[in-house]
Amino acid sequence: RLEKIWLIFGIAMLFAFLAVVGVGAFAMGMQPPGDHRHMVNPETVDQVAPFNQPGLRKIGENEYEAYMLAFAFGYAPEKMEIPLGATVHFYVTSKDVVHGFQIPGTNINMMVVPGEVNHLTYKFDKAGNFLILCNEYCGVAHEMMMTTLIVK
Ligand code: CUA
Repeated sequence: RLEKIWLIFGIAMLFAFLAVVGVGAFAMGMQPPGDHRHMVNPETVDQVAPFNQPGLRKIGENEYEAYMLAFAFGYAPEKMEIPLGATVHFYVTSKDVVHGFQIPGTNINMMVVPGEVNHLTYKFDKAGNFLILCNEYCGVAHEMMMTTLIVK
């Protein structure tokens, strides 16, 4: 009789354990960790923070975040200025099609994909006017798609 009670207790524990694991796995499936953070809706991305106000945010001693939107055929903001030696964390997304994001004279070169936020960090140790250009063919005015980053 005692064995039977322990058997039932054991089975009950097993079910409780499976329930916890199952619920945990289900919750993980709903929202994969570390993934959802970089997804955005390209149709509304320019209406919600931070991309509703594209531009620079100072986050430390000569350290900035740059939130930028790419679209056919340009970038927002149109112009940015940072002090010499600044570290910039670029966060870039597209409102329409796949664009490029390249700054000649640096190793900055990434794709900008609608629905995703692409991220890259760079320290600007040289002064000058840097062009940010699109290097993915995106339509008739692809060649004109650029903006300027001033380092001084
Ligand atoms: Cu955008 Cu080419």
